[in-house]
Amino acid sequence: MKFNTKTIHGKQQHDPSTGAVTPPIYQTSTYAQASPGDHKGYEYSRTANPTRTALENAFASIENGNYGLAFGSGLAAIDCVLKILKPGDEVVSTNDLYGGTYRIFIKIFEQYGIKFHFIGMENAGNIESFVNKNTKLIWVESPSNPMLNIIDIKAASVIAKKHNVLLAVDNTFATPYLQNPLDMGADIVMHSATKYLGGHSDVVMGGLIVNDKDLADKLYFIQKSCGAVCGPMDSFLVLRGIKTLHVRMQRHCENAKVVAEYLAQHPKVETVFWPGFENHPNYKIAKEQMRDFGGMISFSTKGNHLKDAITLVENFKIFTLAESLGGVESLSGHPASMSHASIPKAAREKIGVVDSLIRLSVGIEDDEDLIADLEQALALI
Ligand SMILES: Cc1ncc(COP(=O)(O)O)c(C=O)c1O
Repeated sequence: MKFNTKTIHGKQQHDPSTGAVTPPIYQTSTYAQASPGDHKGYEYSRTANPTRTALENAFASIENGNYGLAFGSGLAAIDCVLKILKPGDEVVSTNDLYGGTYRIFIKIFEQYGIKFHFIGMENAGNIESFVNKNTKLIWVESPSNPMLNIIDIKAASVIAKKHNVLLAVDNTFATPYLQNPLDMGADIVMHSATKYLGGHSDVVMGGLIVNDKDLADKLYFIQKSCGAVCGPMDSFLVLRGIKTLHVRMQRHCENAKVVAEYLAQHPKVETVFWPGFENHPNYKIAKEQMRDFGGMISFSTKGNHLKDAITLVENFKIFTLAESLGGVESLSGHPASMSHASIPKAAREKIGVVDSLIRLSVGIEDDEDLIADLEQALALI
């Protein structure tokens, strides 16, 4: 199957008990057994639930993986990956990543004896100098949040394989419509399905996809033992979202191109961060490993004044000021005070998260309306 067909049919079957074309919401915690252990494959919904199974199969299908796992949030999925590690293990992570990922690494897992190295990975060769005998995991986010840096996933996977280290890729921004990290040698793909996979800003959800059976077994064991699973209603919503992922992503990409080009020529805009520009530092890698450039853009304004950023986000009419991204509606965010506030000021400024930086999640509205909205707000600063 090709991708557009997989979003709708991949690893799906009509409901075996009724033939329902859409997987029903199995709103049940438990399942009748004829005799102890004699059941129809389901015992208790923390371990497995048929609506979640349908979603986990869809996750695996769209990422070209063998196994999918769904969680109550993207961070719950990250938490599951980190629990493979033991005290003394080390992780090499990109330094430009979602603030909540940084927070769970530093504030939760560091106190259990795991050591993190946050490094610039725009040149993937940098990774190797931080790998030592204790390194067990390389954590990559590409495109990164919010600077839209691009990391060469194939090059990172060569280093991971050479040192027998797992490579995990947060594929939230790209989605499998644009890139498939497992095909490029990654071991684990992670998603905040809250974003493009769900696609309608109505659910919080996380996902993991892997190929290797032993790794999948370890993750399923942690999933059921720690219990950070999503419910059947949320599974249903994300499964429905995935069915239109390809058409939504196509429009997100088209609109983002129009918005990025508009911002780049605006006299009040300092820099536009979008991997589709030929002068983006890793444009060549983006073009090679992605099928288009995505719906996320960040930009800074001339003079780098916090007050200008605040004026803009307060006055957008269509780009609603809100956390999150990847829904059908356009959103704006101020990373320094919102999504990345948990990163100390000096550390975030070093990676480019300056006071005037605004992040846009470009939705699928008419592009003329999006440009008019930016225009009217930029006229106010
Ligand atoms: C790139 C990225 N990874 C992970 C997460 C965490 O996901 P969730 O909010 O679903 O827990 C986010 C949330 O914004 C994100 O943007």
